[in-house]
Amino acid sequence: MNQLRKEDLIMPYFVVAGKNRKEKINSMPGVFRFSSDKLIHEIKELKTVGVDKILLFGIAEHKDARAGESYSENGAVQNAVFDVKNKIKGITVITDVCLCAFTRHGHCRILKSNKEVDNQATLAALARIAVSHAKAGADMVAPSAVMDGQVKAIRKALDKNGYKKTKILGYSAKFASSFYGPFRDALDSAPQFGDRTGYQLDYKNPEKALKRIGREIKEGADMVMVKPALAYLDIIYQAKKRFKRPLAAYNVSGEYSLTRGNPALALEVLHAIKRAGADLIITYFAKEAAGWLKKI
Ligand code: PBG
Repeated sequence: MNQLRKEDLIMPYFVVAGKNRKEKINSMPGVFRFSSDKLIHEIKELKTVGVDKILLFGIAEHKDARAGESYSENGAVQNAVFDVKNKIKGITVITDVCLCAFTRHGHCRILKSNKEVDNQATLAALARIAVSHAKAGADMVAPSAVMDGQVKAIRKALDKNGYKKTKILGYSAKFASSFYGPFRDALDSAPQFGDRTGYQLDYKNPEKALKRIGREIKEGADMVMVKPALAYLDIIYQAKKRFKRPLAAYNVSGEYSLTRGNPALALEVLHAIKRAGADLIITYFAKEAAGWLKKI
């Protein structure tokens, strides 16, 4: 029997600066942007229903070309991580490490021109973000920029700064996908020109995705991810068979939109993701699904 458990679920949250903010996201009914104080309240509820893992995304107050706010020690995510770890016991905090919400152009990289990426500056910024999250108390950082060498650069920076215990979850097989649409509205992170097919993976090339997983494991990823999940069950299945690392799958915003309002359908999809081989599932349904699971 293949049984989905609450312990398999990770709940994503969008964090904004300030106080007393819980704002609706038009493209994702039922999902909110929280300020840290409101987030604490929410996570206490989440814990009550039996979900103890969260993934945090920061929303920028000020975007610029170099994503400066992303590694600010006083950023929304950094403050939220600190508060959650200090005010609630037993929550595993994972943080998304990327630039797209913090750059004015909306790409996951620092650019030299519209065509050229500044690789060194991008890797340095990603490493700085990871260290700032670790310093705030994050248990695990999750680089999602699809930059070659990002896991290695982050591992090195974490170790150098004394965060040897902070783990890395690689978004290793991250496909260029139309399933991310609602999320980009939530984070206001849609690219202002071009698209992400230059760096996110081509769904016509599964072997490349599997190779990338292998590479990020070599670079030091403690856990790896396939994203999106529903249209990529074959990749999840193959990755689980091929690699000896815990495997996460991201049931992304477009999948949430398609199945929302129909718990039976959403649960069937979550079970399919588990059956394919995911050890952990990142899903906007995590809080609700914990309740549904009690009943079956
Ligand atoms: C940032 C990032 C994205 C998602 C997670 N991290 C968007 C993107 O790559 O455009 C998508 C998550 C979702 O759709 O739920 N790099």
